[in-house]
Amino acid sequence: MTFLEPSNAKIAVVGLGYVGLPLALAMARHFPILGYDSDDRRISELRENKDRTGEIPSAVLRSSDLNVTVDSGDMSDCNLFIITVPTPIDASNRPDLSALRAASQEVGKVMRSGTVVVFESTVYPGVTEDVCGVELERASGLKCGTDFFLGYSPERINPGDQTHTVEKIIKVVAGQNPEVAQLLAEIYGDVVDAGVHVAPNIRAAEAAKVIENAQRDINIAFINEVTMIFQRMGIDTQDVLAAARTKWNFLDFRPGLVGGHCIGVDPYYLAHAASAVGHEPEVVLAGRRINDGMARFVADQVGRRLKPRSRILVLGLTFKENVPDLRNSKVVEMVRALRDQGHAVDVHDPIADRTEAQALYGFELMADPHAGGKYDAVIGAVAHDTFQSWSIEQVGALLEKDGLLADLKGIWRENQVDTDVQYWRL
Ligand SMILES: NC(=O)c1ccc[n+]([C@@H]2O[C@H](COP(=O)([O-])OP(=O)(O)OC[C@H]3O[C@@H](n4cnc5c(N)ncnc54)[C@H](O)[C@@H]3O)[C@@H](O)[C@H]2O)c1
Repeated sequence: MTFLEPSNAKIAVVGLGYVGLPLALAMARHFPILGYDSDDRRISELRENKDRTGEIPSAVLRSSDLNVTVDSGDMSDCNLFIITVPTPIDASNRPDLSALRAASQEVGKVMRSGTVVVFESTVYPGVTEDVCGVELERASGLKCGTDFFLGYSPERINPGDQTHTVEKIIKVVAGQNPEVAQLLAEIYGDVVDAGVHVAPNIRAAEAAKVIENAQRDINIAFINEVTMIFQRMGIDTQDVLAAARTKWNFLDFRPGLVGGHCIGVDPYYLAHAASAVGHEPEVVLAGRRINDGMARFVADQVGRRLKPRSRILVLGLTFKENVPDLRNSKVVEMVRALRDQGHAVDVHDPIADRTEAQALYGFELMADPHAGGKYDAVIGAVAHDTFQSWSIEQVGALLEKDGLLADLKGIWRENQVDTDVQYWRL
């Protein structure tokens, strides 16, 4: 069998979300690409040049050659599949591979002999070959490594980050054999200006991605833990960090809520894989425990500064600044903890989808932050650009006299705050 060449690759990107859509658009500048997503609402919106993740402007979608479909049968003449579907955790923090299995089955049903299937979803080492390869064999009736071949290329984009885009981040690629690795190095090399790093095997590439995010989680957890210590000591963590980061090798992490579906999720993938080989991870899970406890810590710190049944306005609900993604937002836990303390909490987020906030969490988002009058506390929870553009007078106008401004992201400065406002930050 002649091995696939970049010049005759017909590529399908499976799953057009935060990762798949920018990748498909970048690839469409070099290769014929079909984008497939099983969500018909997503496909209808993309056909109307609307990206609800806010990552891609309409003009870019309008001028792209990318074709999209909700019908997996349309991929039957493709010979290179790139799978970018979600890899979340379940309620017990265990890897949920159901979307990966489903996507593998859909691809398996349409693929022919000679196909290469590349996974970009974040997984623990072994998933591509031992889980996805098996699903593909079962659905296709073909033999992995003989009739079709596997590759892995972890995605490193960062939602809301317009600087580190697909083309500008070094792409790690790995193949089941040297021919696949070479093919992927050439294809991704055409698309990614920053270049490619060829890992020696798929497991190493899978492991690299999962430790990149676990390392971030642990570093943030350390800063969150010292923040908890310094709060008890009456020392301002930001003052400590400003001093410490003057040392050349101090790692510049900030305290905060760790939400979303990467940093707070991927360490559990690593932990699962570790347990499976008989190692109970300590540092990895300790980091998770600290970071998962941060929403409650913040709620306790705010609550102890307020009188019973206070009125609180929370600014920002999404899991990070300038993205509309509400999944796994830790602000939600903080709001619930404050409500459990008996406070009345309103939430305003100019970027979040109000219907989604209602559907996911039962939260009624306020369209106008001024509609509720003055509050006993305002919590700056997410540093959206809109909030960063607010002057201290604008945020102060939302507070009762002697009210509390809890500035989780350091948007405002204590020395700017009026003397009749209490200021607290992480
Ligand atoms: N979001 C990020 O910034 C980011 C960064 C690096 C890596 N990752 C990883 O990339 C993967 C994808 O994440 P995402 O944020 O793009 O997810 P997402 O939820 O934004 O998008 C996934 C898309 O896949 C579609 N989908 C789900 N099951 C499908 C199936 N069986 N067939 C076809 N389409 C299907 C969904 O409808 C959705 O549009 C995950 O493993 C994630 O951990 C994400």
